[in-house]
Amino acid sequence: MTWPEQVQIREVGPRDGLQNEARFIPTASKIEWINQLSAAGFRYIEVTSFVSPKWIPQLSDAAVVAASIERAQGVAYAALVPNLRGLEQAVEAKIDEVAVFMSASETHNRKNINKPIADTFPVLSEVVREAGSAGKTVRGYVSTVFGCPYEGKVELEQVIRVADKLLEMGVGEISLGDTIGAANPRQVQTTLEALLKRYPAEKLALHFHDTRGTALANIVVSMEMGIARFDASVGGLGGCPYAPGASGNAATEDVVYCLREMGIETGIDFGKLLSAAKYIQEKTGRTLPSRNLQAYFAV
Ligand code: HMG
Ligand code: MG
Repeated sequence: MTWPEQVQIREVGPRDGLQNEARFIPTASKIEWINQLSAAGFRYIEVTSFVSPKWIPQLSDAAVVAASIERAQGVAYAALVPNLRGLEQAVEAKIDEVAVFMSASETHNRKNINKPIADTFPVLSEVVREAGSAGKTVRGYVSTVFGCPYEGKVELEQVIRVADKLLEMGVGEISLGDTIGAANPRQVQTTLEALLKRYPAEKLALHFHDTRGTALANIVVSMEMGIARFDASVGGLGGCPYAPGASGNAATEDVVYCLREMGIETGIDFGKLLSAAKYIQEKTGRTLPSRNLQAYFAV
């Protein structure tokens, strides 16, 4: 078995993290936090979502955030978009990379974006095509890969159906979401064994929520399977408001600590990362789930 020498972390805290906070984080604090993340060495930061502000009021300041952050060289500033309207706003805001999203399970897809899966394909297909014309790279999320909050078990064929379509549309990377943090390492292994027969590892990223404490174990088994791209959220923020019971993503500090100790390069400055985690913890007004944040700043 060989471990990857390098792993790319996609930082999704400003989007996945803040969309699920009860408290609206002031726009100026979001901007300051994202600037701290740029300085910490991330190469991909999902800064916001251009979705309906009625659905996700926490990110209703998307355009101001995108316009006001300092852009560091070599960093892709990304945003979630659900439709052409979102794409237009993202292009206007000079977002580098857009992320489209849908679910492998029918019920979560309807609850999250108000459409059946079949009706979502043409919408996203148009977004991917127009994003390409505007010179933007597109990433495609598949949610509920390892379980759905409404339907329970999700068959692999449902995942393949959606992933195939997104790749046909032309997304550069698929992020496989464990939306409700239900996956276990053995399930991740069997799922990836099947998917890697179909897609190259370079096309796949894994997006684990840590609802039941299995995210880091799932990341380690994914690395054993040849995956070298993972989504994570500073502080362990995160969750989908339309997936009951979904709590935070794998905490970036916990992932980076583990990889650093294993001798795997991420390019992220651990000290700056911890400071950024402490900053956003103070802004949320609650103790965040990240283990390293608590270990380093315990009183
Ligand atoms: P809808 O109500 O079916 O859409 O929502 P609509 O086209 O009928 O529009 C309804 C209203 O929204 C209209 O405004 C539109 O103008 C407006 P009104 O006339 O009522 O005043 N609207 C928009 N406003 C701003 N930006 C837009 C936009 N589009 C329409 N882009 C829609 C459909 C998709 C818009 C809605 O369901 C939505 O915004 N959903 C987003 C849900 C969301 O963001 N969920 C969390 C992210 S996904 C996630 O967390 C999972 C992930 O992390 C991976 C994982 O963990 O598995 C990615
Ligand atoms: Mg998520």
